[in-house]
Amino acid sequence: MSAKNGPQHDRVLGHADECDGIEEYDNKLPTWWLGLFYLSIIVGVGYGISYHFIEKTSQAALYDAEMAAAEARWPTPSADDALAAAANPESIAAGKEIYATNCVGCHAPDLTGGIGPNLTDAEWIHGGTLADINRVITEGVPEKGMLTWGPILGPQKVAQVAAYIHGAGGGQ
Ligand code: HEC
Repeated sequence: MSAKNGPQHDRVLGHADECDGIEEYDNKLPTWWLGLFYLSIIVGVGYGISYHFIEKTSQAALYDAEMAAAEARWPTPSADDALAAAANPESIAAGKEIYATNCVGCHAPDLTGGIGPNLTDAEWIHGGTLADINRVITEGVPEKGMLTWGPILGPQKVAQVAAYIHGAGGGQ
């Protein structure tokens, strides 16, 4: 330390008692340090003005833009796309698993029905085409006890289980 800091140079503040014996000098901060400190304040204010008022951006707006870009790049498959993609043996096998986990309680392991109707015969309350089966699983028939599975399973799993029922049951 040089003498330019004045007569108070290296005066000890004397809180060693409170601070586990750590002493502190009461010296001036170095000019370069103060310069950086004030510069960071100026940059911070400038950045805030630019961010909010010039670019008019916000974290919420950036999030929305990113989500929109992701949706454009990887579009959420529509129910029809999911249905078209489900027509293969792996999907139908996955559909069988989904059926075993969620549907056997009402439609029986061999799809012949119980609480819910038989899915293997030619009688269909809501239509027996693949699209019909997919629609009734997605939307359900809540007043009759058939759940609305669309939001629970999502379009892909619904399409898989519909493809399984259409193939294994009496689909038309
Ligand atoms: C809590 C019992 C219950 C569960 C669990 C259930 N269902 Fe159903 N399901 C029903 C009932 C009851 C109906 C008849 C609705 C009606 O009468 O309109 C039905 C109808 C259906 C139909 C239409 C049948 C037709 O004749 O048109 C399909 C397809 C179907 N369910 C598939 C499924 C699938 C797939 C699952 C599993 C993801 C499932 N269900 C789980 C009770 C259930």
